[in-house]
Amino acid sequence: MSLTFPVEAKLKVGSPVQLVLSDNQYIVPLRDLYHMIVDEGTSYPHDRFPNQDDFMDYWFRGKSTVAAYVPDRASAVTMAGAFYLKPNWPGRARQVANAGFIVAPDWRNKGLGWLLGATMLAYAKQLGYRSVIFNLVFSENVPARRLWGKLGFKELGVIPGAVRKNDGAYQDSVIMFRSLLEQ
Ligand SMILES: CC(C)(COP(=O)(O)OP(=O)(O)OC[C@H]1O[C@@H](n2cnc3c(N)ncnc32)[C@H](O)[C@@H]1OP(=O)(O)O)[C@@H](O)C(=O)NCCC(=O)NCCS
Repeated sequence: MSLTFPVEAKLKVGSPVQLVLSDNQYIVPLRDLYHMIVDEGTSYPHDRFPNQDDFMDYWFRGKSTVAAYVPDRASAVTMAGAFYLKPNWPGRARQVANAGFIVAPDWRNKGLGWLLGATMLAYAKQLGYRSVIFNLVFSENVPARRLWGKLGFKELGVIPGAVRKNDGAYQDSVIMFRSLLEQ
């Protein structure tokens, strides 16, 4: 069955959520969300918030970007999460996708990460990708490793000491891979 946006779903807690294909109106809310993630410093390589051009390269240019909207406690609609999807390499290897995910701290552990991940897999397959690779999963990012494992990703290898932490120590990162051919 083909995937069409917007995707309407419900989180574990029953909140309705809508996944939309992003256009220019999503740039500012996504920028604010990514700012929080960079400040956390526990999942993405940026150690300070990138300038607007780098942010646009990282999240929008040459990518399919999908955002999740949920009504918050005050019934305002807020961006709770997002992912981008792009070829990991050009040319002959462009059928291997890469994706990045963020869920706002207030919306974690409600199944949104799983929904975004499952949607990304279906969308990647629909766009003709044959597999998905995550290049830099921080080894101490237990929720992410657990989530990707549940979505069928296997750990291909470890890059020792790839990531500098806030305290100056280094942690490993993990390369994770999932084929889309037998999905
Ligand atoms: C990783 C992330 C996307 C998950 O989003 P989420 O909406 O919380 O995901 P879900 O609610 O679908 O699932 C989270 C899972 O992690 C588990 N989890 C949460 N915290 C955990 C912890 N400290 N230790 C072990 N497992 C943990 C939850 O129990 C849940 O698994 P379960 O459904 O089997 O119980 C979110 O935490 C996030 O945005 N983190 C910052 C950015 C990031 O890490 N991106 C991915 C980079 S590879």
